[in-house]
Amino acid sequence: MTEAKKQETDIEDATFARSLARSAQVEQSIDDNPGRFRMLTGDRPTGNLHIGHYFGTVQNRVNVQNRGVETWILIADYQVITDRDSVGKIRERVRSLLADYLACGIDPRRTTIFTHSQVPALNQLMLPFLSLVTEAELHRNPTVKAELAATGGRAMSGLMLTYPVHQAADILFCKANLVPVGKDQLPHIEQTRQIATRFDKRYGRVDPDNPIFPRPDALLSKATNVLGLDGGKMSKSRGNSIELGMSADETAKRLKKAKTDADRNITYDPENRPEVSNLLLLASMSTGERPEDIAARIGDGGGGKLKAEVTTALNDHLAPIRARRAELLANEDYLWQVLAAGNQHANEVAEQTLSQVKAAMQMVY
Ligand code: TRP
Repeated sequence: MTEAKKQETDIEDATFARSLARSAQVEQSIDDNPGRFRMLTGDRPTGNLHIGHYFGTVQNRVNVQNRGVETWILIADYQVITDRDSVGKIRERVRSLLADYLACGIDPRRTTIFTHSQVPALNQLMLPFLSLVTEAELHRNPTVKAELAATGGRAMSGLMLTYPVHQAADILFCKANLVPVGKDQLPHIEQTRQIATRFDKRYGRVDPDNPIFPRPDALLSKATNVLGLDGGKMSKSRGNSIELGMSADETAKRLKKAKTDADRNITYDPENRPEVSNLLLLASMSTGERPEDIAARIGDGGGGKLKAEVTTALNDHLAPIRARRAELLANEDYLWQVLAAGNQHANEVAEQTLSQVKAAMQMVY
């Protein structure tokens, strides 16, 4: 590793540690006073949700929603075209996400679900926000760099380079102050805080005591990262995932092919036996039993017994979610109504914020 690269990694580690500590504080204040917070998260509608999303973030969103925090979920449709030429089967993807959310316990009476494309005032914030960042800063964003590297030499689009600024608009239009994210999204939260601060400095306030935009905090999920069934990152395109919408049989088939190792004695050892431990973790998250205890119960039963255990545990846990999901998809009109109501609410809030922005910028004619 070069000296410069090492320094960069050190800075990222320090930011991560700070964010973890801050997340712990925020968790405490949520319990003390949930009304202080507004949470926003988003997903790109590029595929169906899988158990990595479910155990990694969706459960956490439901949990925070149920603790009384006002919650917003963005189906980030414009973000689909940051790194691909086509939006794909976008309508189907959006519908599937709506069903996934509601089936998992997102409650449309408490949570606003909306899409970029139907909220013009949100997108308009992108213009003043872009003026607040430099091109060099955009190029330095480590997540954008990593995403670009992963596209295999494809030319970077202007939207790819500037999507963190668009994401700042996602967060700030509704004045969210809490953004549950994974580690890879931390640079975007930092960028968002910077934009909020710079806007305040450059244009001032409508209300002298309060800046127009809050400085949002990241909420790092405590959930352990679920791996794919081959031990790599779980993703639809690698065929190593289990989608919420899969049948129990499909789930069993996928798990049968999961990678294990040669040692028949099952133990929980994430460091040395990542694949076996990941399967134990999936069973554990499904039943609430400790992974060590599940391992002890399986003992010398080997990979076959382990897979049978995980299959039962996961299918049992997902059964009610899957049933609800199927019911929701059978009543498509309801799903589109939920989205229309969410979009309407998002528009009202976005227009209010944009009026404040125009006032601060003296663009009132
Ligand atoms: N980039 C996020 C992802 O791929 C999705 C997203 C879009 C998002 N806008 C957001 C997440 C705003 C948090 C806040 O997962």
